[in-house]
Amino acid sequence: MNAWPGLIEAFADRVAVPPGARVITLQEGNTPLLPAPALSDRVGAQVYLKIEGANPTGSFKDRGMTVAVTHALASGARAVICASTGNTSASAAAYAARAGMTSAVLVPQGKIASGKLAQAVAYGARILQVQGNFDDCLELARKTAAAHEEIALVNSVNPVRIEGQKTAAFEICDALGRAPDVHCLPVGNAGNITAYWKGYSEYHADGVVDALPRMFGFQAAGAAPLVLGHPVLHPDTIATAIRIGAPASWAGAITARDSSHGLIDAVTDEQILDAYRLLASSEGVFVEPASAASVAGLLATAADGRLPSDALVVCTVTGHGLKDPDIALRAMTEPVVVPVAAEAVAGALDLR
Ligand code: F0G
Repeated sequence: MNAWPGLIEAFADRVAVPPGARVITLQEGNTPLLPAPALSDRVGAQVYLKIEGANPTGSFKDRGMTVAVTHALASGARAVICASTGNTSASAAAYAARAGMTSAVLVPQGKIASGKLAQAVAYGARILQVQGNFDDCLELARKTAAAHEEIALVNSVNPVRIEGQKTAAFEICDALGRAPDVHCLPVGNAGNITAYWKGYSEYHADGVVDALPRMFGFQAAGAAPLVLGHPVLHPDTIATAIRIGAPASWAGAITARDSSHGLIDAVTDEQILDAYRLLASSEGVFVEPASAASVAGLLATAADGRLPSDALVVCTVTGHGLKDPDIALRAMTEPVVVPVAAEAVAGALDLR
C-alpha cells in the first residue's frame, strides 16, 4: 500500500522520535492547500487556504499530538494530560486511545464548543471542567504533570508538539515550490505561530526555500494580550478556541513577528464572524470561528494597505466548522419549515 504514512514518517529526517519508538499516528498531515479565488479577488493577492480541519480530529493539533503521544509512550508514561479550549483535548484523547493510554483533559467549564466536548467524550477521556479559564487549566495541568511522573503533559509548552506542528510550513513550501510572502494565522496560546516560524526557518536555513514569509498573527480583540503587551485577566471572545489571556509561547510569537517583519493584531468578533460566513458561502470552506480570525485579519490588512498587493498569501484555517455547530446555527439564517407539499417547496424557494 502506498498511502500517506502520517507526518512522523513523511518527515522522518526533520521530526525526531526516540529510537525504536512505536509511532502513534492517525495519518495526520498532508492537508489541502486550497486556492481561494473569491478572497484573492477581494484582497488583490493570490490567496491559499491551508485546510487544517482536514486532519483526523478536525484541527491542526493532530500534527503536534502524534509526536507528543509517541514520545510520551516511549518515555514509559501511562497517561497524558492537557489543558484545552477544546481542540487539544479532542486530539490528545484520540491519540491516547490509539496508544492504549489514559487521557485527562482540563477544560474551562461551559466555554468549549460542543463538537469538541463530544469528541473527548467519544474517545474516552477523563474530562474535568474547571471553574476557571484556559490559563487556570494550563496551570493545573502543569502542576499535575510535574507531581506525577507517569503523566506526560501534552500542551504546546512541550517542545515536541512544536516539532510536529512545524511540518505544516514544510507542506506549504513543498506545494508552492517556495515560501509564501505572507502567512496569516490565528493566535491563542501562540504555539502554532512559533511552530510555523520554526518550520519556515529550518527550510530556509537548509536552502530548501530562498526567502521567508512575513508572519501575520491575529488575536480576538477581547483576548489580545500580545497586541496589548500584557496578559488579559478575563479574556472573552466568541472564538472560544483562542480565548486565552496569558499565552505560554509569548516569546515565540514575538520572535516570529519581529524576525519576519510581520505583525500581530486584533480582530473583533464581528470581523471574525464576517470572515466565517464569507469562507463558507464564497469558498465552500466551513471552519470554526477561531480559524476565521486569520481571514478576518487578511481582510483588515488588505483594507488598510498593510498587505502588499499581488502577494502570495497563505491563511491557515485551523479547525473544522463542525467543531462548533451552535455558533453556525446562530450565525446563519434559520432553515425554513414546510409541509410535505411540492408547491410549498417551490413557494419557499421562490420558483415560479
Ligand atoms: N485555532 C484553533 C481552532 C485552536 O484550537 C487554537 C488553539 C488556535 C487557533 C490557536 O493556536 O494556541 O497555537 O496559538 N487551541 C488550543 C486548544 C489552545 O486547547 O485547543 P495557538
